[in-house]
Amino acid sequence: MATSLVRRSLSRLHSSPATKLFLSRSHASEPQTTQSTPVAQNTPSIKTFQIYRWNPDSPTKPELKSYEINLNECGPMVLDALIKIKNEVDPTLTFRRSCREGICGSCAMNIDGCNGLACLTKIPANNDTMITPLPHMFVIKDLVVDMTNFYNQYKSIEPWLKRKSPATDGKEILQSKKDRAKLDGMYECILCSCCSTSCPSYWWNPESYLGPAALLHANRWIMDSRDEYTKERLDAVNDEFKLYRCHTILNCARACPKGLNPGKQIQNIKSLQA
Ligand code: SF4
Ligand code: SF4
Ligand code: FES
Repeated sequence: MATSLVRRSLSRLHSSPATKLFLSRSHASEPQTTQSTPVAQNTPSIKTFQIYRWNPDSPTKPELKSYEINLNECGPMVLDALIKIKNEVDPTLTFRRSCREGICGSCAMNIDGCNGLACLTKIPANNDTMITPLPHMFVIKDLVVDMTNFYNQYKSIEPWLKRKSPATDGKEILQSKKDRAKLDGMYECILCSCCSTSCPSYWWNPESYLGPAALLHANRWIMDSRDEYTKERLDAVNDEFKLYRCHTILNCARACPKGLNPGKQIQNIKSLQA
């Protein structure tokens, strides 16, 4: 309570025109700058994280465990907070991460009700942030979910270049800039599964519906000018469940941390089939 009052009065102080004038002037004067900075840093900014915990080695009911950390001593992203908790508070907390910059896709989780990458999500300004595993996935431990079904679905669309004839020069299969541009909005996918695990159709039919991520990749190869199996690829997904469980709800586009729109790519497959 006291902390939030201090924080509120600090933010009011920072936003008032008089303060802005004072702060900009204080930059020109050494003694004032050195006085104001330590005061702000010494005031702890405590935030609570409620994190889903479940351990298969001593299986009890899953629970939300509270951790408090001082944001003044933490980086700005949710992943920074998780690493701080693991390093300094509770080394048993388990989560995936690798690149720390939105490339590997491994730190996907649900943060305050929205799927996203912990390394690209700023620590929310609210007092309490809840972190849970990706929804409707089997949990292996804490925030780590089983991706086997997701990767098998990706594999099922045969995500590699397939040719019936060799390259005309015997070496390289060339692609024009215009044809290459047709892959924009798809090649950037990092397979984090934020889209598929936010899709209601995928929740209800995870075994039979391919889901937005796998279908986005199916379309990526259908649209590739170098691939010679376009018809076979279209036939392979032409199925009431594999493809037509998509009802264009577009949760997938809202969830994608790379700004992609899998729903639009699914629509493209449907229109090519029509
Ligand atoms: S558009 Fe299709 S894939 Fe995307 S969330 Fe909706 S049903 Fe799922
Ligand atoms: S489309 Fe976006 S949300 Fe879906 S797997 Fe690819 S990067 Fe992740
Ligand atoms: S750690 Fe790689 S995407 Fe977040």
